[in-house]
Amino acid sequence: MQDEDGYVTLNVKARKPALTSVEPDSSPWWRAVALILLVLCLGMVVGMVALGIMSVTQQNYLQAQNENLSGTLQQLAKQYGLVTSSSSRLLNPCDTNWRYYGDSCYGFFRRNLTWEESKQYCTDMNATLLKIANENILQYLKARTSLIRWIGLSRQNSNGVWMWEDGSVLSKNMFELSGDAKENMNCAYFHNGKIYPTFCTNKLYLMCERKAGMAKFDQLF
Ligand SMILES: *[C@@H]1O[C@H](CO)[C@@H](O)[C@H](O)[C@H]1NC(C)=O
Ligand SMILES: *[C@@H]1O[C@H](CO)[C@@H](O)[C@H](O)[C@H]1NC(C)=O
Ligand SMILES: *[C@@H]1O[C@H](CO)[C@@H](O)[C@H](O)[C@H]1NC(C)=O
Repeated sequence: MQDEDGYVTLNVKARKPALTSVEPDSSPWWRAVALILLVLCLGMVVGMVALGIMSVTQQNYLQAQNENLSGTLQQLAKQYGLVTSSSSRLLNPCDTNWRYYGDSCYGFFRRNLTWEESKQYCTDMNATLLKIANENILQYLKARTSLIRWIGLSRQNSNGVWMWEDGSVLSKNMFELSGDAKENMNCAYFHNGKIYPTFCTNKLYLMCERKAGMAKFDQLF
């Protein structure tokens, strides 16, 4: 103590002539700077701690949400009978061999059947001959099959209007029948993105459709 005081005193005294204008000011100035730095440091530490806490909280929250979502989905899946023994495996809402697109399941069958037989074939599968409801489905089917297949479009007689199985009329501004519908050509088939009229007694392959058990279920993952 004594030594240091003495040394400092001596030192200051020795340099006093040269440093007079700087030294008395520099001490408070540096103290202020140190204080500011300290405050900044503390601020940063507090900030980092806060960030850490927030991030952990956020993670917990997200995790909880995630678990909640999984639980909800699994409950829904059970409700719709989509989950087998391993409850974590979420299945495609369509049966094996049926293709999932939009809200429907599509079945493509290679049977040489008349239009009426095809209609019955789909009915036996709890389905209907398919309806091409919009351009998206048309494009999907076009990419999916290049074979000639019956669809659910027919007319009562040569003067009747073309109607889908659900009773809706073929929308003229959406589809045109390709080729002339001659007398008694009252059923329609699909081939390479187009719809053609033909005799209902022809034997062709077919496509069926049924509503998917759940909309867009697998797209959530
Ligand atoms: C899932 O979250 C909802 C709302 O956030 C809540 O009402 C429900 O109780 C939660 N379910 C479970 C199983 O945590
Ligand atoms: C359907 O008929 C066509 C010709 O009429 C034949 O080539 C084809 O093998 C038949 N398909 C089936 C699955 O019987
Ligand atoms: C059609 O539905 C009935 C009653 O829900 C069911 O018993 C039958 O197995 C279904 N058939 C097919 C091919 O899915």
